[in-house]
Amino acid sequence: MTFIPVASAYITEEDAKAVYDVVKSTWLSQGKKVLEFEEEFKKYVNAKHAIAVNNGTSAIHLILAGLGIKQGDEVILPSMTFISTANAVLYQNATPILAECDPKTYNITPQEIERRITDKTKAVIAVDMNGMPVDYDEIQKVCDKHSVYFIADSAESLGATYKYRKIGEIAPVHMFSFFPNKNVTTGEGGMITTDDDVLAEKIRMLRNQGQNGRYNHVMLGYNYRMTEMQAALGIVQLKRLDWIIAEKNKITNVYNLRFKNNPHINPPFIPNYVTQHSWYMYAISINGTLEERDNLVKKLNEAGIGTRLSFPPIHSQPLFCERFGYNVNSLPVTQAAWTKLIDIPVWVGMKDEDQEKIITTLEKFCSVKF
Ligand SMILES: Cc1ncc(COP(=O)(O)O)c(C=O)c1O
Repeated sequence: MTFIPVASAYITEEDAKAVYDVVKSTWLSQGKKVLEFEEEFKKYVNAKHAIAVNNGTSAIHLILAGLGIKQGDEVILPSMTFISTANAVLYQNATPILAECDPKTYNITPQEIERRITDKTKAVIAVDMNGMPVDYDEIQKVCDKHSVYFIADSAESLGATYKYRKIGEIAPVHMFSFFPNKNVTTGEGGMITTDDDVLAEKIRMLRNQGQNGRYNHVMLGYNYRMTEMQAALGIVQLKRLDWIIAEKNKITNVYNLRFKNNPHINPPFIPNYVTQHSWYMYAISINGTLEERDNLVKKLNEAGIGTRLSFPPIHSQPLFCERFGYNVNSLPVTQAAWTKLIDIPVWVGMKDEDQEKIITTLEKFCSVKF
């Protein structure tokens, strides 16, 4: 029995050759390829600046550092996210304030943000969970009303659109990740996009040891640079991004159609303002208990079908329970949503018969008590 993974990077000979050529050139650290990748990236998302870094976590950290977020400041973010979003706030010794998600979209909402704003709030990090854009315009309105900076954690949403605008050009600053399960991968890697000249300049310095000229260090910086090998891979990968999304659309259209009338399986709910989902993950919500979900996951895995449970929410992570007194009951809407979610395979190269197996196996296990 062949195992169907939940995600798989799309890598071709062209990708391998691009990396090979850079290695042979002997110029391996940040140079022309990184510049070229940044140029192509900013054109793709229609942003003024694109700054490449070594991973997405560093990207969030650099944005917060660039904005001068510090001890005593509060940053609002969803509990339903990957640990990096929250950890980056801790790197700056600021306080993460966790918000509930919308029970249908799993994204943070303007209402949940506004409820948590205090006079210490300096920034909001909104996350496009599973690659589905948040309601950017409404979140921006709340941020403007309270003079709070809007940071978009778009780690998962490269290629998605909000009201026909590319993710990467909408919030004052966005970050992306190029981890191998993303639509564009560089192995590890990240990108920041913004139209803010001052912030971009500061982030560029922070990325490279706080230098404003060679070996002249004017601030505490980091080595968060991207390598030429990563950038060479990214350039080739970015060229096929729209095709990757189109292929993923074909797969998810089939899932949507087949799960539409299933009383046990809820396909992703997509609001009208989302004009393209990135389909980083296809998350179904099952009408069952946590035990039933885990049982279903076990059965699927035994049948050779890979799944991924979404990241356990931040309020349930031991680090955050110990430091901030959260527990699994702190954010009940997020907790309830998380206990029902299962990510099922969506990747380019997956065979039609594999998808048919996933659907029929799910239908079979869900029709009896799972
Ligand atoms: C929502 C979110 N934010 C941030 C990151 C961090 O990115 P990276 O793994 O590249 O550090 C990820 C991970 O991929 C993520 O899913």
